[in-house]
Amino acid sequence: MTHATDGIMSLLRTATSELHGSTEQQTFQVSLGRGELSREDYIHWLSQMYHVHHTLEVALKTLIESNSIAASVIDEGQFKVRMLIADLTYFDSSPGQESPLPATAKVQDQLEELAKTSPIALIGQHYVLEGSTNGNSFAAKSIRKAFDIEGDAGASYLDPYGSQQREKWKNFKDNMNAATFSQEETDLIVQAGVDMFQNVANIGQALAAQSLSFTTDTNS
Ligand code: HEM
Repeated sequence: MTHATDGIMSLLRTATSELHGSTEQQTFQVSLGRGELSREDYIHWLSQMYHVHHTLEVALKTLIESNSIAASVIDEGQFKVRMLIADLTYFDSSPGQESPLPATAKVQDQLEELAKTSPIALIGQHYVLEGSTNGNSFAAKSIRKAFDIEGDAGASYLDPYGSQQREKWKNFKDNMNAATFSQEETDLIVQAGVDMFQNVANIGQALAAQSLSFTTDTNS
């Protein structure tokens, strides 16, 4: 049980910090961060993240149209489908080319279920993916180097904000902390944040398991 008197960002951070640590150290994420993924695995990852973001963004659009508190923290400038399309196109792929893996389809089901039952919780899912730009913006440097990417397209999902990263993240944090959520909503958002970390880890694990570039130890 969380305490609504604590700022929501501090609750999210505390509830997910251990998961952040383990996800960050996951074999697949480490390889991504170092720019050591094969081109194929990087494309597979972008494709799976496309499916996740597409489902999430459809649900978030509906949420922000009907809920002013959600609209005070989420705006379409944070949506990342367009970056994923640009990156996939850069690599001569396209969004529909790869189907969702079972791990990804599970996330999509979870998001669609939340959209029906407790859409406010989707803010927690969004928090994780928005927050991931903090580490991903560093990974973008390695990826650009590894694949000789010169412009934005190719690594724009990893680094959507460029030099504005810190400012964008600070604005998101300030807006979240200024929003008023009930205790029940707070609990739902925090749980959704925890779930999304697990979801991202599961997708990384599934991608490593199907790749010839990774050996047996794919989940640590
Ligand atoms: C490549 C491995 C990663 C590294 C090196 C990394 C690094 C970082 C750093 C340095 C911050 C702190 C930013 C700040 O407070 O100013 C951060 C925050 C965050 N990262 Fe990561 N990260 C990685 C992977 C991930 C992944 C895979 C996710 C989730 C999909 C994620 C989600 C988050 C979130 C939600 C925050 C915000 C935490 C908060 O509420 O303060 N990170 N990360």
